[in-house]
Amino acid sequence: MTTFPTYPTYRPRRLRRTPNMRTLVRENTVTPQNLIYPIFIRHGKDDVREISSMPGQFQFTIDRLAKEIKEIHKLGILAVMPFGIPEHKDAQGSDNLHDDGIIPRAIRLIKDTCPDLMVISDMCLCDYSDHGHCTIIDPSNNHMLNEPTLQYLRDASVVHARAGADMIAPSGMIDGMVHAIREGLNGAGFVYTPIMSYAAKYASAFYGPFRNAAECAPQFGDRTTYQMDPGNAREALKEVAIDIAEGADIVMVKPALPYLDVVAAVRNKFDVPVAAYHVSGEYAMLHAAAQNGWLDLQRCALESLTSIKRAGADMILTYFAKDAAKWLEN
Ligand code: PBG
Ligand code: ZN
Repeated sequence: MTTFPTYPTYRPRRLRRTPNMRTLVRENTVTPQNLIYPIFIRHGKDDVREISSMPGQFQFTIDRLAKEIKEIHKLGILAVMPFGIPEHKDAQGSDNLHDDGIIPRAIRLIKDTCPDLMVISDMCLCDYSDHGHCTIIDPSNNHMLNEPTLQYLRDASVVHARAGADMIAPSGMIDGMVHAIREGLNGAGFVYTPIMSYAAKYASAFYGPFRNAAECAPQFGDRTTYQMDPGNAREALKEVAIDIAEGADIVMVKPALPYLDVVAAVRNKFDVPVAAYHVSGEYAMLHAAAQNGWLDLQRCALESLTSIKRAGADMILTYFAKDAAKWLEN
């Protein structure tokens, strides 16, 4: 235990008097190198659309993507996570099962444009299935089918890895997903492709704006039977332990700010790198308040990201990645 000198000799403010002094003693700093930027890829040609619920975020068609990728790379961001809006969705999410699906094509474009920009591939069914759920569904009773979903994740992960994905990030909270994907990748020779598991993903209303960005709202029911209940923290440790046992290289907590206690608990209990996803709703609410003149966007965004790191996240998925890189440049 440290003992602190008592008044009148002690002056904590000594270390806060100048910007350089504060920088010197700062415990946690946000850098673009630890930020992962989610991007939205839309079917079609020559089209860039702003996402109305997420000011400053856009859907890009593949032919318009290269310029954006170069800009992201130039800002010093090391990784992107693409989400696809395919032309055709079906019950099997089959767009991800062949090499000319929207995401495999986007991955190749990104890797051709900037080979050292890492692609972390979100691996789920919901963006690509017509029913909008993260699992294969039995059409006779709308039940979620675990084993066929694992087969899907296994196959689609190999398709993404073959396209050049540097990491696979299963996001569906499907029991056994990490093990299934590890088997699939190993079987296809991708032994060194890491898995970042959305290990503790909550059934959160903060995903609202994303549904509109990725055009993937569930067509019936909700995700409460596979995503976690917001009241639970101990259960997150169980989910993380299982995923690590199955072979997860990095574990994620999502959302970030409302779940900082979970980020800290995971950090304290496990020794693998921890990621936190600062989600669409966290982004949108800062923008909404800033548009009203109620909050300073830059300061609140950087404070949020700093706090997520302070809670224990090694890396943050955030729609503020580009902005933060620009703000931190000067
Ligand atoms: C799909 C997925 C979602 C997000 C990332 N991957 C939506 C969901 O689970 O409903 C949310 C991202 C965000 O809100 O920023 N599995
Ligand atoms: Zn999903």
